[in-house]
Amino acid sequence: MGLEGVRVAVLGAGRMGSAIIRGLVAAGAEVIATGRRRETLERAAALGARTTRSNTEAVDEADIVVIAVKPFNYPEVAEEIAGHVAGKVVASIMAGVTLKILDKTLPGAETYRAMPNIGALVGRSVTALALRDGGGRGSNWRLVEEVFKTIGSVVWIPESLMDAWTALAGSGPGILAEIIDAMILGGVAAGLRRDVATKAVAEQLRAIADLLEEKHPAAIRDEVATPGGTTIAGIHALSSYSPRRMLMDAILAAAEKSRELSEYVANELAKKLNID
Ligand SMILES: NC(=O)c1ccc[n+]([C@@H]2O[C@H](COP(=O)([O-])OP(=O)(O)OC[C@H]3O[C@@H](n4cnc5c(N)ncnc54)[C@H](OP(=O)(O)O)[C@@H]3O)[C@@H](O)[C@H]2O)c1
Repeated sequence: MGLEGVRVAVLGAGRMGSAIIRGLVAAGAEVIATGRRRETLERAAALGARTTRSNTEAVDEADIVVIAVKPFNYPEVAEEIAGHVAGKVVASIMAGVTLKILDKTLPGAETYRAMPNIGALVGRSVTALALRDGGGRGSNWRLVEEVFKTIGSVVWIPESLMDAWTALAGSGPGILAEIIDAMILGGVAAGLRRDVATKAVAEQLRAIADLLEEKHPAAIRDEVATPGGTTIAGIHALSSYSPRRMLMDAILAAAEKSRELSEYVANELAKKLNID
């Protein structure tokens, strides 16, 4: 299934919305994007979308709607579009906004919850789509997958794992960037120029990403670690800092924070939207 001629409304053409618009336009979809400020609309227009300040107009014209505003802007958007979504497919990328909230606030819509990541900016998001209780996807799941495949790849996970996903795939790029920066500085400390060290790390990340398709990380490590060689000397030095413990703790801390924030978002929205 392609997206040629499919009409997609992107409500909130911000950072993530713009990445989605870029992917959709490249895939041949007809995009109508919204925002409140002129700059937002101009940026979306430059990416090839039609634009409007009216979320209802965008929804009325669309086959599928992507909601990409911040969670705390959702109440105003929900109020605006609630009467216009019956029978439409609506996918939200808002962190912490549950399927339950979407279902209660968008009567008659077929709702989806998606969590893309920063990779979307370069067409390499890995986006989680939430399975409903009991494992159901919704009858238009292929169309929704197609939309998110325009910015990268897609996996389906139970909604209860969205916070774990946010930690690993959402915060992961930031945590990896921290490690990468330290590795680059290690190269600089060993005498390489920063740009050369950066290229060395960037290229090996690409290679490792490809190798991971076929091999366990431990197998990749064992191939590089010649007995008595440089790699095992580096790994030996690293092991005195418990890197596994540190990184597993980092992901678990991010997951805990995501749970806290999701709960806060859900409670605040429930109050504003009068949901019990
Ligand atoms: N950034 C990420 O890495 C990431 C990853 C996964 C999920 N998300 C989710 O994606 C959503 C957007 O994040 P972002 O980083 O792209 O934020 P952002 O850059 O602030 O984009 C949000 C956009 O929504 C527009 N907006 C606000 N109220 C609106 C309204 N009533 N009607 C129409 N448009 C409205 C804003 O445009 P105006 O200022 O012109 O109104 C703004 O450009 C959030 O819910 C976030 O949880 C983000």
